[in-house]
Amino acid sequence: MTTEPREATEPLALSTALASFDAIWSPRVIARVNDYDVRVAKVAGEHVWHVHENTDEFFQVLDGELLIALREDGAERTVTLVPGSVFVVPRGVWHKPSSPRGASMLLFEPSGTLSVGDQHEEVPDQVDVTVGHAL
Ligand code: NI
Repeated sequence: MTTEPREATEPLALSTALASFDAIWSPRVIARVNDYDVRVAKVAGEHVWHVHENTDEFFQVLDGELLIALREDGAERTVTLVPGSVFVVPRGVWHKPSSPRGASMLLFEPSGTLSVGDQHEEVPDQVDVTVGHAL
């Protein structure tokens, strides 16, 4: 376990971070907290059904509306997140985010977490398979 100090960065406005890229379903890492990434993403249309076997995934909607479909106990339900809403998809739960009208969101998950999880259905063209890009 290292206790090496990190170099402090400058404050970053979420609006500045979001204005710096256009790609959808292609998260940007805006901060690290211990071994977690804080990521932001712009989204529109459908992501892909996938599951993170070993980590929960935190979502906060910044703008627009995000739907997250969940498969639980053999049934499917969809939660709707509006700006300011937060939601955690528990580890092991298959989920598919989507946004018919577009949204921006903040994610909090362990560094190295793949956008399409450990298992996923066929990845559509608009979905970036990534562990998050630098701003
Ligand atoms: Ni996920």
